[in-house]
Amino acid sequence: MRVASIIFLTGSIITACTSPKKSSLGHVNPYQYTINKKVEAEKGAVASAHPLASKVGIMIMKQGGNAIDAAIATQLALAVVYPAAGNIGGGGFLVARLADGSTVSLDYREMAPASAHRDMYLDPQGNVIPNKSVKGHLSSGVPGTIAGLVESLKYAKLPLKKLIQPAIDLAEKGFVISEREARSLNSLQEELRKYNTTTTAFQKTAPWVTGDTLIQKDLANTLKRIRDNGAAGFYEGETARLIVDEMKRGGGIIDYADLKNYKAKWRTPHQFNYKGYTIVSMPMPSSGGVLINQMLKMLEEKPLASYGFLSPQAVQLMTEVERRAYADRARFMGDADYFKVPVSTLVSESYLKNRMQDYMPDKAGSSEAVQPGEIPAKESEETTHLSVIDAEGNAVSITTTLNDSYGSKTVVGGAGFLLNDEMDDFSVKPGVPNMYGAVGGEANAIAPGKRMLSSMTPTLVLKDGKPFLVVGTPGGTTIPTSVFQTIVNVIDFGLSTEDAVNKPKFHHQWLPDQIEIEKGFPYPVREALQKMGYKLNERGAIGRTEVIKVRNDGKFEAVADSRGDDAAEGF
Ligand code: GLY
Repeated sequence: MRVASIIFLTGSIITACTSPKKSSLGHVNPYQYTINKKVEAEKGAVASAHPLASKVGIMIMKQGGNAIDAAIATQLALAVVYPAAGNIGGGGFLVARLADGSTVSLDYREMAPASAHRDMYLDPQGNVIPNKSVKGHLSSGVPGTIAGLVESLKYAKLPLKKLIQPAIDLAEKGFVISEREARSLNSLQEELRKYNTTTTAFQKTAPWVTGDTLIQKDLANTLKRIRDNGAAGFYEGETARLIVDEMKRGGGIIDYADLKNYKAKWRTPHQFNYKGYTIVSMPMPSSGGVLINQMLKMLEEKPLASYGFLSPQAVQLMTEVERRAYADRARFMGDADYFKVPVSTLVSESYLKNRMQDYMPDKAGSSEAVQPGEIPAKESEETTHLSVIDAEGNAVSITTTLNDSYGSKTVVGGAGFLLNDEMDDFSVKPGVPNMYGAVGGEANAIAPGKRMLSSMTPTLVLKDGKPFLVVGTPGGTTIPTSVFQTIVNVIDFGLSTEDAVNKPKFHHQWLPDQIEIEKGFPYPVREALQKMGYKLNERGAIGRTEVIKVRNDGKFEAVADSRGDDAAEGF
């Protein structure tokens, strides 16, 4: 498996001493590649979690594809080169502005299997069984990614077989892994042994090291079946058989009918105005669009810019709007096909004005006072986002997820892909704290065929109806706040795209009643907030935001987050 004997990593170049093999990858060399954090481009740009995936997207546009083609090819490549979150065994959301000016959103979120039931993660005494909704076969929802990709071909120019071939080649011939990827795979070994019924491509007796080549033959064969048969290559036939056999071996419940019945759904995007910009985002079953609508509108009339970027006053105000929006998330939000979500009330002017009535500048609010209710279920943060744009006027924002890093940790034997553990995004026991010490509400209780509430917030900001920002990030419940803060950083604080992405972020999600801050969060601001009465909790990185901005001169500025191996490409 290991083909590289000498490798060197120079911060932005990952390389191995081996010659590229001929493939559909053209000039994309999976054995030597650069990580670009920022590009300026005229014809097209992609920002994603992996340099090879971003490069594949650009290659597809150079071959005549539009931003939708590039987004499909990038996602498929991510399923190979970024197995922690890129996926075909998970789900996601797409938000797009098309060249004709229309906006669309596509829901390919995972779905609870038909034999799922609301108490499936409880013991006979009614207690939550630790890990059951998070690891292994029973934690997986019915995957939606392939249905979503095939459905989005509607707006693509190139055939699936062309868009999927780079992913097949990357899986079959392998690619060189970075130091971060080696570390990540090494930390996974014990769980892979525990939650798999067959040996996976991610397992190795010696530790993974930078420059190793990861080859995924079973995944390549699954991708070939999808190339040859479309969605049926995943939801029916051999792949379906492999999934169902895996479920039987490991005590899971996804069956043939669940797979065959899965459908991606076109939804009306959640759209609103903010200071003259049109924000286009994801509706239920994502909480993201409604949350950023609530947060932006709660502060629209306040003199935020005059407080200054990362000033104590600005952080306090943004924290208080986050607190209020996330309290509503816990109580009211879920799959709107199953639960009546009062969206128009939640985003109405009078409701939001009322929500801010008890806001007191310079004094910490309290989550007990803001609203008694249920705590939002804590979501894992291993999700991934890609932003794509072309010169025809198409802009695509996609966030997809396996939920946890490497999802359920279960690879479908013989099919080579990881299954999600998205069932944990449901409230496993409505009204009672789950294994993370958090609870959710009836709105997000498990029901057969229902889609679990998400925080994924793929978003577009339009100016005069034309793309201005393409933005999104992973990060579980921190996703809407990162998108919210990135938008405010650009529109209100006038930050450069790089600063809007990379400067420290902070997050309040109602409960626990604390502000989570990144390591670089300035100390004088911490002290000022503590004096106001806030509890602060320093934590790891918040999100990995990928932004494309359309400048006044019409050029694209694509920025990939510095918090990971994320890379921007353009031409
Ligand atoms: N699993 C992360 C989310 O959907 O929000």
